[in-house]
Amino acid sequence: MRTPIIAGNWKMFKTIAEATDFAKQLTATKAIEGVEQVICAPFTTLSALAGILQGTPYALGAQNVHFADQGAFTGEISPLMLKEIGVKYVIIGHSERRQYFNETDETVNKKVIAALSHGLLPIVCVGESLAEFESGSTEQVVRTQTEAALNGLTSDQVKQVVIAYEPIWAIGTGKSSTAEDANKTIGYIRGCVERAFGAEAAAAIRIQYGGSVKPDNIEGYLRQSDIDGALVGGASLTVDGFVQLVAGAS
Ligand code: G3P
Repeated sequence: MRTPIIAGNWKMFKTIAEATDFAKQLTATKAIEGVEQVICAPFTTLSALAGILQGTPYALGAQNVHFADQGAFTGEISPLMLKEIGVKYVIIGHSERRQYFNETDETVNKKVIAALSHGLLPIVCVGESLAEFESGSTEQVVRTQTEAALNGLTSDQVKQVVIAYEPIWAIGTGKSSTAEDANKTIGYIRGCVERAFGAEAAAAIRIQYGGSVKPDNIEGYLRQSDIDGALVGGASLTVDGFVQLVAGAS
């Protein structure tokens, strides 16, 4: 009943020329149905991509957003600006932003609220570090991050959010979580959503796994009961890779 969602997170890769090439090639291939497909691209490429992806099955996503509509925030991009381009999704609270750019649970929550109020759909990232994983605190970490991110939302708003569970130790390392472990933690996150927002919201919210997802391991994740898709970095950078990931989720 939940439509799987595959989102490519390009991170700080691709010039406008490279992004344009990718989108032209992707839209020239036959689209796979039954899977929601999102490209989360660098800010500089979004306008060009919007022009190519408009009216196609591929949705456009950004990788960050500020929580204010406008203001003296040098270097930042507001939800209004993303909306104007035609962006549909926005990644919020990626561990790289938490680690290198002082993103906190509080700013994540403000950004989630701001995104939703402008009709942008948040992909909220949660996940534990290697030390937290090894000390057995995964559940505590994801619970704190999930509850903080969704704080103050209505149950209807929660249904529109996508959560991406990305164990930090699995990102870009080739060391992915087992499908069973990822499903257990994602089931736990769904339980946290249920306790705070009720069974209907918990049944509706989509929760992805992210961290070294590749065309050859994606099917194992998507077969699990609670995993509704993947947020993919490296393997989403080529058209072939992206299409194979989507095929694995279909
Ligand atoms: O947001 C996706 C990400 O952090 C995982 O990256 O390269 O391990 O798929 P990667």
